[in-house]
Amino acid sequence: MTKQKKTLGEFIFDNQSAFPYSTGELSKLINAIRLAAKITNHEVNKAGLVDILGDAGNTNIQGENQQKLDVYANTKFIQTLVQRGIVCGIASEEEDDFIAVNSHDGKNNNSYVVLIDPLDGSSNIDVNVSVGTIFSIYRRISPVGKPVEMSDFLQPGKNQVAAGYIMYGTSTILVYSTGRGVNGFTLNPALRTFYHSHPNMQFPETGSIYSVNEGNYIHFSKGVKKYIKYCQMEGGDRPYASRYIGSLVSDFHRNLIKGGIYMYPRIGPEQKGKLRLTYECNPIAFLTEQANGIATTGAERILDVQPTELHQREAIFCGSRKMVEQLMEFIATED
Ligand code: AHG
Ligand code: MN
Ligand code: MN
Repeated sequence: MTKQKKTLGEFIFDNQSAFPYSTGELSKLINAIRLAAKITNHEVNKAGLVDILGDAGNTNIQGENQQKLDVYANTKFIQTLVQRGIVCGIASEEEDDFIAVNSHDGKNNNSYVVLIDPLDGSSNIDVNVSVGTIFSIYRRISPVGKPVEMSDFLQPGKNQVAAGYIMYGTSTILVYSTGRGVNGFTLNPALRTFYHSHPNMQFPETGSIYSVNEGNYIHFSKGVKKYIKYCQMEGGDRPYASRYIGSLVSDFHRNLIKGGIYMYPRIGPEQKGKLRLTYECNPIAFLTEQANGIATTGAERILDVQPTELHQREAIFCGSRKMVEQLMEFIATED
C-alpha cells in the first residue's frame, strides 16, 4: 500500500521544532499564507465566470469579481496576516509604503515581516494562463516592541528565513523553503487541503529550456546576446527549447522541475531590470539556491544585493547550475 502523503498542516507542525528560534510564530505565519492562498485560489479559478455569475443575479459575487484580481489578492493576504496578528509588518507590490502591524495585545512583539507580490503575471488572467503569488519572510532587525522600520524590509535576500510561491495553474501548488530544502504541496480542491506532492525539489544540474522575453533582445548586453545565440546553436543537447509564459512563478516552476534557465536582463534606454528585487528576485533566488541552482544579477549573487528602495528593480538570471555558469562565462568575456 502506498503511504498517504502528509498534508501541509502536518508538515509545518512536524518541522516546527527543527527551526532554530522555534516559538511557533513562523509556523503560524506559513499557516496564514496557506489560508490566504486557498481564498485567492478560489477567486482566481472563477475569474472567467464573472459575467455568468452576474447574469444569474448574484450581485454580491458580481461586485467582488469586478475588483481587479491583483487588488483582491493583495487585500486577502494583508487581511489574513493582519487579522491573525502574526507579523509586525507587510510590504506589497500593490502598496507604495510598507504597513506596520500591531500584535493582538496592541504592542509590537512579533518578529517577522513579510514581502509579497500578491498576484504575479496578472496580465495573464484575462487569457486563462496561470498566475502566482510570491512571498518572502525576514526577522525584523529593529527592536521588538517598536513599530517596524524601512530597514526591516531592506535586508539583503540572504537574510530571508523563508520564501515561497503559490502557482494557480492546472493544479494549485504551494512551494516554499525555510532554508532546509524546497518542498511543494498540491491542493486537492475537493478536500481543500494541500498535500506534500513534491518533496525536496532540486534543479536538475542542467536542462534544455531557456526562458526570456526575446522581444527585448536589442537591449541585451553582448554577453547575454551571445548566450541566447549559444542556446539556439547546434551542439550537445542544443538547440534548447525556448519557453516563456510571462508569469515568473510559472516559468520558474517549470524550469525547476524540468531543468532550465530564466532570464530577465536589463532593458530599455536606462538599462534597468524589470522584476522587483525585494518580492520577486529575492524569494525566487532563495528558492533557487535552496534547490541547488544559481541566481545572479549577472554581476553578483542576487541574495547579496543590498536593497535601497522597497520597489527597486533588478536584473535576474536563475536556474540550473551549469546553464547559469555557462551564461556567466559569456558575460565575463563579452561585457
Ligand atoms: P506582475 O504581474 O506581478 O506585475 O509581474 C509581471 C512580471 C513577471 O511575472 C513576468 O515574468 C514578467 O513580468 C513578464 O514581463 P514581460 O511581459 O516584460 O516579459
Ligand atoms: Mn510579479
Ligand atoms: Mn504582481
